[in-house]
Amino acid sequence: MTENDRLELRNISKSFGEVHSLRNINFRVGRNEVVGLLGDNGAGKSTLIKIITGYHQPSSGELYFNGQRVDHLTVPRARELGVETVYQERALADQQSLWRNIFIGRELTTRFGFLDVKKMRAETDRLMRGELGFTSTAVTPDSSIKGFSGGEKQGVAIVRALYFHAEIIILDEPTMGLALSETRKLLNFVREIKTAGKSCIFIDHNVFHVYDVADRIVLLDRGTVAGEFRKADLSLNELLDKMQHVAETGSL
Ligand SMILES: Nc1ncnc2c1ncn2[C@@H]1O[C@H](COP(=O)(O)OP(=O)(O)OP(=O)(O)O)[C@@H](O)[C@H]1O
Ligand SMILES: [Mg+2]
Repeated sequence: MTENDRLELRNISKSFGEVHSLRNINFRVGRNEVVGLLGDNGAGKSTLIKIITGYHQPSSGELYFNGQRVDHLTVPRARELGVETVYQERALADQQSLWRNIFIGRELTTRFGFLDVKKMRAETDRLMRGELGFTSTAVTPDSSIKGFSGGEKQGVAIVRALYFHAEIIILDEPTMGLALSETRKLLNFVREIKTAGKSCIFIDHNVFHVYDVADRIVLLDRGTVAGEFRKADLSLNELLDKMQHVAETGSL
């Protein structure tokens, strides 16, 4: 691994009884890098993510964060290490205002220990106009996020994660069920992660979306890494050919 890697998995395997979901996975995420993870249903993408977030323990193998080996990773520890997952469904609390959604669970307080509502509203206002790009006067920090679209809600969750210093933001099938214009917004939010100097693991069934935002693409096939490419080294057509070949033969 290079010293700069945010995260490295070495020889990670995961079995559920007789099911070998992951076998000897080597996977890394560099600083300021968007890694696209592609693979068919059941390839092991979500299992890989659940190991990185501390939700599952690997059956064998090693995990490194910033070059340091981490054993027995838990969900809170992964969060401390800067891993944030943005879920399409669970991203936000619909009944709550935008500012409450940004600061939920991590409220700002005054030095006397009271909620600093004024500051949270002001920070939300700044994020709205800047990172979130909400220019409409109809949206305020007090707006309920009920009316937000799927892409916007995930955008809020991404901006929130960046605000709280996430280092690696994980998106598992973020464009599923989104309209075209929403998908475009979402992909722009992924680009913001890079602009902020942070890293991202982007999982999507849509190759075009992955190719669009990823710096590097990792192909999973039936629990193993079938291939890994830097986008700069292959065209979209070449990627499609490789995926077809993996699907047919199980290797490159
Ligand atoms: N908790 C579990 N118990 C038993 N088997 C599991 C469990 N989680 C995942 N698996 C199995 O591991 C394999 C990989 O599943 P995983 O959900 O990681 O795939 P995926 O690539 O995310 O697929 P999809 O594209 O459908 O989301 C599958 O065969 C799945 O049935
Ligand atoms: Mg999955």
